[in-house]
Amino acid sequence: MNLLITGGAGFIGSNFVRYMMGKYPDYRIVNYDNLTYAGNLESLKDVEKRKNYVFVKGDVLDSKLLDETFRKYSIDGVAHLAAESHVDRSIMNPVEFLKTNVMGTHAVLEATRKYWKENPSATRRVFLNVSTDEVYGSIEGKSFTEDSNYNPNSPYSASKAGADHLVRAYGKTYGLPAITTHCSNNYGPYQFPEKLIPVVIFNAIEGKLIPVYGEGKNVRDWLYVDDHCKALDAVIHKGIQGETYNIGGDNEWTNIDLVRRICSILDELKPAKEPYSSLIKFVTDRPGHDLRYSIDASKIRRELGWSPAPHAFEDALKETVKWYLANPDWINCVKSGEYTAYYEKNYKGR
Ligand code: NAD
Ligand code: DAU
Repeated sequence: MNLLITGGAGFIGSNFVRYMMGKYPDYRIVNYDNLTYAGNLESLKDVEKRKNYVFVKGDVLDSKLLDETFRKYSIDGVAHLAAESHVDRSIMNPVEFLKTNVMGTHAVLEATRKYWKENPSATRRVFLNVSTDEVYGSIEGKSFTEDSNYNPNSPYSASKAGADHLVRAYGKTYGLPAITTHCSNNYGPYQFPEKLIPVVIFNAIEGKLIPVYGEGKNVRDWLYVDDHCKALDAVIHKGIQGETYNIGGDNEWTNIDLVRRICSILDELKPAKEPYSSLIKFVTDRPGHDLRYSIDASKIRRELGWSPAPHAFEDALKETVKWYLANPDWINCVKSGEYTAYYEKNYKGR
């Protein structure tokens, strides 16, 4: 398969590129990414020289370059991950989310539709749209199923919802073999330090306050990034055209419990004078902050035989913390001037 992965230099994208190259050495993997602040080729240093890997520096809004890429590499599978992905940034600057997530998804769909129409093939083709559980909004008591209503509450989730609707429309109207997945919060190596887990680790080891929004009672369902990659692989190869699949870890934590857990892992791995939890500071809440996400992933387990690896969350979390402690070069590389400016803007006076 010639697989186009958009956003392959980001957190999940780089883990997915590595996963697919390891599992399918005969596939050609084309990583299409314009390297925003969140995209980093340092995350792919170990695979970039392989013969079956190609990097194209391109914007998903660039239809001409997309058309050229489809032709040049005879693309017959698409995993669309490129996105503006951080909720706090979407609150500060929504328009970038509309451009990349809505218009960008449209441009990728259109390039796919055109190329596959002009170049029919008897082999399986698939357009995988990597969406999020956040499009369903917040839920109390029960869990989101694939039939849950869309209720996006942030500009980020609204833009992802817009993308999902376009993907669905391209399936219905043009017969594009499209499938959408809705995954819960991922954790693991190579995550940009604007998201909760790396923010906690980096602030703690630098002796900075650890910001917890509101009362820290919001609940997220955490899934190890490799388990997400395994699920995307299952959907690409076995998913049914037109279907949607929820992906989650059955692993719900309140933010404050998770932050305390990371602090105690750090106390063990890198003891400081005071316990790291003394750095926790409750700060002004995120506007429109969803209280709880909870994913019912029984469909993908039942129909595609996917399940997360049988690691205990606490072990995988500890491995994740160890990875950040062991990779200061990667950390220094991503914490560029842009990161510092963003950090100031998001947290100052909070
Ligand atoms: P990320 O922010 O780490 O990476 C996004 C990547 O997309 C970066 O490499 C960036 O350079 C690239 N990109 C952004 N705009 C682009 C553009 N206009 N053209 C080309 N490339 C562009 O994001 P992530 O956390 O890896 O998330 C990947 C996908 O998975 C997103 O679609 C996100 O909505 C979805 N998702 C993420 C999570 C999570 O917990 N992180 C959970 C569920 C779904
Ligand atoms: O659920 C899937 C989504 O998970 C993905 O679609 C998004 O791309 C991804 O960013 C993530 O969104 P969240 O908003 O849940 O992730 P974040 O790491 O930003 O925040 C996790 C929780 O921690 C959330 O309740 C907000 C809170 N938080 C976050 C930060 C950055 C804090 O309390 N303090 C912080 O400094």
